[in-house]
Amino acid sequence: MNFESVDRVRAISWRDDCLQLLDQRLLPQQATWLCYNTVADVATAIRDMVVRGAPAIGITAAYGVVLAARQRFSLSAGHWQQAISEDLDILAASRPTAVNLFWALAVMKEAIAALPANDDPVAALLTLADKIHNDDLHANRRMGELGASLIKDPSAVLTHCNAGSLATGGFGTALGVIRAATAGGKITAVYADETRPWLQGARLTAWELLEDGIPVTLVAEGAAAALIRDKKIEWVIVGADRVAANGDVANKIGTYSLAVNARYHGIKMMVVAPTSTIDMATMTGADIPIESRTADELLMLSGQRIAAPGAQAWNPVFDVTPAELVSAIVTEKGIVERPTTAAMRTLMGR
Ligand code: MRU
Repeated sequence: MNFESVDRVRAISWRDDCLQLLDQRLLPQQATWLCYNTVADVATAIRDMVVRGAPAIGITAAYGVVLAARQRFSLSAGHWQQAISEDLDILAASRPTAVNLFWALAVMKEAIAALPANDDPVAALLTLADKIHNDDLHANRRMGELGASLIKDPSAVLTHCNAGSLATGGFGTALGVIRAATAGGKITAVYADETRPWLQGARLTAWELLEDGIPVTLVAEGAAAALIRDKKIEWVIVGADRVAANGDVANKIGTYSLAVNARYHGIKMMVVAPTSTIDMATMTGADIPIESRTADELLMLSGQRIAAPGAQAWNPVFDVTPAELVSAIVTEKGIVERPTTAAMRTLMGR
């Protein structure tokens, strides 16, 4: 299928010998590209949400490793492979939940170990980072087709957070399915949760869908249960930050609540994630580390305190949806309906 008309947004690019990131903190008001030359700045960019979304974090980290190799090799050719492990640790400490970060670092680490100590490693590592980037884009297009095949009749859908081009190498996971289904004439309406407190839905999902000419209707998180009850949608479609070996899904805080509501009201729940998001070493969702971010993200809005003085905040930014509430996990290797450990093992060839 030709997706060109619904696939115009990109957030990560290697240009002019540096890593360029579209600053997602400023969208949709400003589309500003920032240029990164050091691994430390890349780790800060991930932590501070210049770039976010599980696959995009992994791709960014891979390019961060290229920058680290360039720095280390120029300082001490012959010993850069030992020195770079500190840089890998800095990248690994940037955000804890999205497993794509650790997956991409493991791929880069293996390549580093196989390179000769005295040759400049930059070209080889850049080729690998580009491959991680391109493979993600192709996985998303494949998942788009597979996920769209599950949508039988023209349907309205609800998505959460931003699992789109901005969160990936391009095309998106959940939004990739929505893009493909839109191209196939199967989508009657897209609802997007605003996604407090970072407003990834209101700021990013709405922006990128509209950039591609796909109409979108925002809802406050609190409105989602009524939307589902009133059968205004047929599918909830989300991405994932980490899928455990039993099919439990960690994704943006609020996903669990949507899954409970969807099951209660007989609506289907689709999780769209490349196999780089599946963590067979983590047995269940209870073992997935959940990131907590600063209370100010809830207490403040656009730099202004909005909460009553003295109020505290609890700000976990992901939650875990048990596998039993998931109708289907869509990956580039195939679809797992009603996920179980056995089905996930079969998918992953283990
Ligand atoms: O905190 P964020 O914005 O990085 O969280 C992103 C999400 O939860 C996405 O839904 C997830 O990474 C899937 S992206 C394809």
